[in-house]
Amino acid sequence: MKAHLITYGCQMNEYDTHLVESQLVSFGADLVGSVDEADFVLVNTCAVRGKPVDKVRSLLGELRKQKQQRPLVVGMMGCLAQLEEGQRIARKFEVDVLLGPGSLLDIGKALESNERFWSLQFKDELHGHIPPPPTGKLQAHLTIMRGCDHHCTYCIVPTTRGPQVSRHPDDILRELDSLLAAGVQEVTLLGQNVNAYGVDQGAKLAGYPSFADLLRLVGRSGVRRVKFTTSHPMNFTEDVAAAMAETPAVCEFVHLPVQSGSNRVLRRMAREYTREKYLSHIAEIKKHLPHVVLATDIIVGFPGETEEDFQETLSLYDEVGYDSAYMFIYSPRPGTPSYKHFQDLPRELKTERLQRLIVKQKEWSARKNAGKVGTIQELLLRGDAHDAGFLEGHTRGNHPTVVPKALGATGPGIYRARIEHATPHMLYGRLIGQDGQDLPELPRLNPEAAALSSPLQMA
Ligand code: SAH
Ligand code: SF4
Ligand code: F3S
Repeated sequence: MKAHLITYGCQMNEYDTHLVESQLVSFGADLVGSVDEADFVLVNTCAVRGKPVDKVRSLLGELRKQKQQRPLVVGMMGCLAQLEEGQRIARKFEVDVLLGPGSLLDIGKALESNERFWSLQFKDELHGHIPPPPTGKLQAHLTIMRGCDHHCTYCIVPTTRGPQVSRHPDDILRELDSLLAAGVQEVTLLGQNVNAYGVDQGAKLAGYPSFADLLRLVGRSGVRRVKFTTSHPMNFTEDVAAAMAETPAVCEFVHLPVQSGSNRVLRRMAREYTREKYLSHIAEIKKHLPHVVLATDIIVGFPGETEEDFQETLSLYDEVGYDSAYMFIYSPRPGTPSYKHFQDLPRELKTERLQRLIVKQKEWSARKNAGKVGTIQELLLRGDAHDAGFLEGHTRGNHPTVVPKALGATGPGIYRARIEHATPHMLYGRLIGQDGQDLPELPRLNPEAAALSSPLQMA
């Protein structure tokens, strides 16, 4: 069998795609790089906003056409598969295999079955399952929990992924060991709400560390860099900031979604914190980590959001001074409380607010990135950049960065670089050492690349 997976959605879906791909390989399938080469196409879906759902719909339409012309098995997995909306789509487009986010390990049974195979149960075996490490990669994701116990009124995730289940710390550490043995240098711990690790359905699980202690444990494993996402402000404790500060492997990067700067909107979203509480967490983080890089998620145009509410989001952005932000237009999702109870705002008004927020975000990202010029950053370089002669990667603070190749530094690895230029979206540096060592400046491999590293030409 020749299988091809297509992934929409967040990093949890990327992790799950890897998990299913490795199962397929263990059953003898070959992974191929395109739909045309495949006789089994599996789409890993996202349902968080209308757009990813539309994309899946048109892709499945395309695949149904292909099915009429050649033998092809089409599968759908992930968040949308769990919803009635997704199952309607699956029936319409004659999807053969359907796996909810809790039943991924049924992929083997699906392959054995000669007829339509749908499985939507949440199976406990998934939490103890350790997928083999990715090959030849310096970065990996590590899921530490699945599901979500919050009920933000706009969000479909608790419906698609079910209640929160934390993975046992022994399983997490075993998976980490296998990643390290495979040469992984940067691990991102994943969960919908990592700060609530070990506190499932409101109760503390016996023998599970707090998230802060899990960070300390992971930091002692020998991994070079640890990141985590996502944090919910309500479950954030100062001990997490303290653990970050005292654990050198944990990167100085916090993604703390705020969603809105207005208390009225936060209440209607059922976010369970106030603007003031959120800002007090930011102050705690800055106290422990003065050079922290801060990112957030913001929804604009939530039902009932007034111009005044929106102004509060803009002013909160200034108060925090985020390095980056994911900004979304509110998308009403069937099955969520806000869809049922609130009236959606006009499209133009939402779009116009998003434009203004993007202006704000660009100003801050430009200012923050400009502040990095002249500093020395530790880079994880993944490999060749778009332009030959350059390598691309990212800092501990997740800034995308490009550097010219230098003698002794032509491939993936952890390097040190001095930042020379910045745009709102990119840092441009010059390598000065490798693997954390303070080496003398590395000569550039190619003097033409030096000329090219001006941001005017690169941007
Ligand atoms: N568990 C994570 C978020 C998962 S969804 C957390 O709470 O931080 C990722 C982001 O999508 C959310 O932070 C939110 O900003 C956005 N989002 C979720 N539902 C949305 C909706 N209905 N419309 C627009 N954006 C949404
Ligand atoms: Fe959705 Fe809220 Fe849970 Fe995040 S915390 S996944 S936004 S319900
Ligand atoms: Fe989308 Fe599911 Fe992630 S809805 S954002 S893929 S948790």
